[in-house]
Amino acid sequence: MNDSTTMNNAETVTRIPLIAGNWKMNHDHLQAIALVQKLSWTLSDANHDYEKCEVVVFPPFTDIRSVQTLVGADKLSVTLGAQDISKFDSGAYTGEVSGVFLKKLDVKYVLVGHSERRTNHHETDQTVQEKTAAAFRTGLIPIICVGETLEELETQGQSAVPVAQVIAALAGHQKLSDFVIAYEPVWAIGTGKVATPEEAAIVCGKIREAIAAEHGPEIAAATRILYGGSVKANNVAGFLKSPEVDGVLVGGASLDADEFSGIARFQKHIVL
Ligand code: 13P
Repeated sequence: MNDSTTMNNAETVTRIPLIAGNWKMNHDHLQAIALVQKLSWTLSDANHDYEKCEVVVFPPFTDIRSVQTLVGADKLSVTLGAQDISKFDSGAYTGEVSGVFLKKLDVKYVLVGHSERRTNHHETDQTVQEKTAAAFRTGLIPIICVGETLEELETQGQSAVPVAQVIAALAGHQKLSDFVIAYEPVWAIGTGKVATPEEAAIVCGKIREAIAAEHGPEIAAATRILYGGSVKANNVAGFLKSPEVDGVLVGGASLDADEFSGIARFQKHIVL
């Protein structure tokens, strides 16, 4: 398998796999440069084809300018993402970062609604909807993060909460631009407990069905849906075998260049 292809109204839609590394609050700008350099060398030694599998890193805000400079100077193919975005474009919002500024730094993707922000910063579905709107407005591609807690899993099952969060984030926009969904069960983040590939595929499938019902089959067929939560080089292939899963959002394992490049080279592990 290489990428997910969906037949839709006699039209073929290809979803390029997306391998995303969320560094969270790890690495200063000097460590960031070293990591991106090592990651790029490792992937180019392995002849990685970025057109067939996109690789994106999400460093802390303070590292982004340094990584942008490195990527530009050395013509690297690693793509830049940011971990958060303000719902406002400018003004008296101390500590917030505008999508306009991120766009100027060649940032392409932005995480919205990561469970750590929903929990630690009390971000609601409405906040996530507004941040998604800010990403659309400023020309960034939001990666909308959704997922259930252990308690929600036990009381509501696996897909109810993530599906409701997706519907809320995508509601009320005048027009939907390009977006990505990341299904990250909260109980699997940083715990070493992973959803099984079958569970991940079922929830990603339900999310795609909900997008189709709300926004039409074309948008659903074109949307990449990622799995996240304790992904490592030795378990990534299981998730990406399913045509419903179009990539992974990786936390801890993205801080190690060898491990993360092993994840980006997931096709090596897939035995058909
Ligand atoms: P881990 O891969 O460390 O479980 O983190 C997942 C995550 O939160 C990525 O956004």
